[in-house]
Amino acid sequence: MTRRATISGWGKCAPPVKLTNADLEQLVDTTDAWIVERTGISSRGINHMQTTDMAEVAAHHALAAAGLEPADIDLLIMATVTPEITCPSNACHLQARLGAVNAAAFDLNAACSGFVYGAITASSMVAAGVKQRALVVGAEQLHWVMDYWDRNTCILFGDGAGAAIFEASDDGDGMLGADLGADGVAGSTMVFESLGTRRHLGEGRDPGTSRLHFEGQAVFKIAVQGIAASVRRALDQAGVSADDVHLVVPHQANERIINSAAKKLGIGPDRVMLNIADHGNTSAASVPMALCDAAESGRIAPGDVVVMTAFGGGVTWASAVFRWGPRVTAIATSDAALPPTDVTALDLVAPNREFFAPLHADGA
Ligand SMILES: CC(C)(COP(=O)(O)OP(=O)(O)OC[C@H]1O[C@@H](n2cnc3c(N)ncnc32)[C@H](O)[C@@H]1OP(=O)(O)O)[C@@H](O)C(=O)NCCC(=O)NCCS
Repeated sequence: MTRRATISGWGKCAPPVKLTNADLEQLVDTTDAWIVERTGISSRGINHMQTTDMAEVAAHHALAAAGLEPADIDLLIMATVTPEITCPSNACHLQARLGAVNAAAFDLNAACSGFVYGAITASSMVAAGVKQRALVVGAEQLHWVMDYWDRNTCILFGDGAGAAIFEASDDGDGMLGADLGADGVAGSTMVFESLGTRRHLGEGRDPGTSRLHFEGQAVFKIAVQGIAASVRRALDQAGVSADDVHLVVPHQANERIINSAAKKLGIGPDRVMLNIADHGNTSAASVPMALCDAAESGRIAPGDVVVMTAFGGGVTWASAVFRWGPRVTAIATSDAALPPTDVTALDLVAPNREFFAPLHADGA
């Protein structure tokens, strides 16, 4: 029997503080109607803790769903573009927090494609017999690089974390095929230069290079074409057709991007997982958060063909075709959660408003 990595656990952490479209109407010249129509987003989470706090919560839920203890994990990959510091990696920080003492740990930066890159990396290591049980986490503190004076970007992104367990199986389920790639030449279409969310935003940084910038329409076109082509290549490698796919779990960048790409693939909305309305674009966290919502809402049946697909900064893209195993319910649950807070979303983004204000002194 072929050894593969099956998805045996899933979890997420959605911050309790939400920045709504009504909140954004107070900050920039926009409307709830415009945002919903052009993106599908109604609110997004703003984390009042650190990136690793969300990652830890998501990891505990995924471990519980798989019925595993942290020490059972032998590989921990953390996909993020908003690490707290550069070294030690966030993965090592998370390993220490969890007590995942037997895990190799490293960070992975493929922007919004990071979790799918990580899922493919983990699955390949498990299939090769190098590792047995991997925890892959996507976690992002994106509000930290948001210029809440810039309506082109600040409406789109949110914070969050998602996690999944990839465990060795000889039962025929697991990753059937994958496609991943990059186009560094197109990299300037999405950029932010700063690293290290643990330090205060204003500490020794230049507002001009600290905010996320992208060329919206260029990214939109790259994404629609790129997702459809990448999924086709992954399906070919898996030896299955688009008709065989039960559920696509795409990166939640923009509902219109997802719908256009799905249409190109001939996959109807009933076979596409969408949760962008509540979370916005959470970069590397978006696919595992959507996967968790899909599993928890009964969208996945035993033996289903599930396709994860993402594109992002770099430019990067990745798609992976999985056959789900026989179990679609969690073995156990965890009560891990971020601590409650009374702080508001507008309070949390106030430092960004102050920091980026000089870029808009002329009213731009
Ligand atoms: C950003 C995005 C939502 C813009 O949607 P769009 O339909 O392409 O809109 P356009 O860029 O054509 O802008 C149309 C108009 O709306 C305006 N606009 C932009 N943001 C606005 C907002 N939040 N509220 C109201 N109007 C807005 C623009 O200024 C433009 O006005 P103009 O015609 O007077 O110049 C869309 O391009 C997108 O999602 N791109 C992908 C971005 C992305 O996902 N990046 C990260 C990838 S991981």
